[in-house]
Amino acid sequence: MSAYLEVTHLDYNYPDGTPALFDINVSIGRQEFVALIGQNGSGKTTLSKCMNGLFKPTSGSVVVDGIDTRGKGVVKQLVTRIGYVFQNPDHQLFNDSVQKEIAYGPRNINLSANEVQARVDEAARVAGVAPELYATHPFFLPKGLRQRVAIASILALKPRTIIVDEPTTGQDMRQSVEVMEFLRSLWQAGHTIIIVTHEMSIVARYAQRAIALRGGRVLVDDTVRAVFSQPDLLKQTYVEPPQITRAAQRLDGLSRHDVLTVEEMQDAFRSAISAEASQG
Ligand SMILES: Nc1ncnc2c1ncn2[C@@H]1O[C@H](COP(=O)(O)OP(=O)(O)O)[C@@H](O)[C@H]1O
Ligand SMILES: [Mg+2]
Repeated sequence: MSAYLEVTHLDYNYPDGTPALFDINVSIGRQEFVALIGQNGSGKTTLSKCMNGLFKPTSGSVVVDGIDTRGKGVVKQLVTRIGYVFQNPDHQLFNDSVQKEIAYGPRNINLSANEVQARVDEAARVAGVAPELYATHPFFLPKGLRQRVAIASILALKPRTIIVDEPTTGQDMRQSVEVMEFLRSLWQAGHTIIIVTHEMSIVARYAQRAIALRGGRVLVDDTVRAVFSQPDLLKQTYVEPPQITRAAQRLDGLSRHDVLTVEEMQDAFRSAISAEASQG
C-alpha cells in the first residue's frame, strides 16, 4: 500500500533565513502511531508544520494523500486530510465560544448548517467535550479541556492524520494518560497519529514507530523498540530511553536490551532466573 504522507528531500528555511530542516525523507502509511523525538530546537515542530502544509518546503516536497502542499488552493483539501494540534492550545483557539471554535473548520469548507452541527456534536462527543460547554468561552476552561476543544476542532474536519505537538506538556499524570488513551482510541479507529514529545515513557507506551531528529535531520527512523535498544545512537539526540529501558540495559544478568514496559521487565527477570537455575 502506498504511503499516505510522503516527505521527500525536504529542506525548510524560516523567512528570516534560519535553516531548520535538511533533506528530510519520511514516509508514513495509514493507521500508524508515530512519535517525533529529539531535543529542543531539533526541528520537530517545524517538520510537523511542513507535514500539514502550514509551512511550504523551501525545497523538496510534502505530499499528503496525493496532494502536494505547494499546490495553489490546496488548503481546503489538506485540512480534511491532516490536522495539526498546536503545542499550546491558546495559539489555536480564537473563537469566543466552544461551539464556534469547533464549527469553524467545517464552516470554512462550506458544509451546510446541518452538517456543521452534526460534525460539531460528533467531534465534541469523541473528544469528551460536553454540550453544556458549547456556550462557554474557551478561555475559561482548564488547560486539559482547552486542549480537548483544540482536538475537537481538528476532528470536526475528519482528517485521517492528526499531529499533536507535545500532547502531555503542562498536564498532570492523570490528564496525560487521558489524552494519550484518547489518541490511542482514535488510532484504533483508523486514524494515523503523530505525536511530538520529549517524554520517552509516553513513546514507549503508545507509539509504534519513532523518528528522532537531530539538528534538522533524521537521525533514526525505526520501531520504538529498535530505537530504544540503541542508547548510543540516541545519545546523539540528547534523548534517553525510558527509565525502565535504561534500568534493564544496566543489569548485567538480563539478556534483553529492549525492555519497554514493567511486564517485559518481569519477563526478562523470569528468563534470567530460569537460565541461572538451569546452569545449576
Ligand atoms: N519562527 C522562527 N524563526 C526562525 N527560526 C525558527 C523559528 N521557529 C523555530 N526556529 C528555529 O528552527 C529550528 C527548529 O525549531 P523547532 O522546529 O521549533 O524545534 P523543536 O520543535 O524540535 O523544539 C531551531 O533552530 C529554531 O531556533
Ligand atoms: Mg517544538
